[in-house]
Amino acid sequence: MTLLEAIEQRHSIRAYQKRPLEADVVAALQAVIDDCNAASGLRIQLITDDPKAFGTSLLHYGKFRNADHYIAIVGDKRLPGLDELTGYYGERIVLEAQRMGLNTCWVALTYRTNRDRVDIRDDEKLTCVISIGYGVNPEGAPHRIKRIDQVAKSLLPGGEMPDWFVAGVNAALLAPTAINQQKFRFTLQADGRTVVAEESAWGPYSTIDLGIVKLHFEIGSGVKLMHNS
Ligand SMILES: Cc1cc2nc3c(=O)[nH]c(=O)nc-3n(C[C@H](O)[C@H](O)[C@H](O)COP(=O)(O)O)c2cc1C
Repeated sequence: MTLLEAIEQRHSIRAYQKRPLEADVVAALQAVIDDCNAASGLRIQLITDDPKAFGTSLLHYGKFRNADHYIAIVGDKRLPGLDELTGYYGERIVLEAQRMGLNTCWVALTYRTNRDRVDIRDDEKLTCVISIGYGVNPEGAPHRIKRIDQVAKSLLPGGEMPDWFVAGVNAALLAPTAINQQKFRFTLQADGRTVVAEESAWGPYSTIDLGIVKLHFEIGSGVKLMHNS
């Protein structure tokens, strides 16, 4: 499965089979996480077999079932671009997990931090969590998608959008965003090469979303937006 196929096939999954992650799956995920940590300076952690984090006494925006395994994204509060890095590297793990036959869901609200399992140092923050496992229905369902003209603009004459730019924006439109807000904008500059990606409005976790959609755009277009990736 290519990364683009993983983008097309991924949908948030909240109901999982009660099933442990096999040792080879854990090792493969850990290798991806190690790469992401080395590249970003984050301290992303894989936590397995912790049913407490998604206990039933929480508000249920999206009900989770058997979300016993998750990825905790932890980073130094002073790390420049912490939220954007969270989105970019977290989504890299999401897409690799999809290629391994796993399902995921980004979770900002509906979990309880279990400090017995997640290691958060004094200067650090838990920025987000991603549940991971084998979905009861692994296919999931597509989200509502904005039109390309609502999220992208070209400063070329006549607003022309080259194919690579359109492919990047289409990949970004398939990305997970908090409450599916899709509050991002890609602008192709007049030089026909430079792309500016930004939040189009403030929304909860919109900076994490921006990191996620930047990765999707890079995969769809073949053009790099993050300098430290
Ligand atoms: C930063 C972020 C935080 C999210 N937080 C939650 C959450 O707390 N609970 C939940 O059920 N879904 C959460 N989601 C999942 C979104 O609701 C989901 O990605 C969006 O509706 C699009 O659907 P899709 O991922 O299936 O394409 C979050 C997604 C992102 C990117």
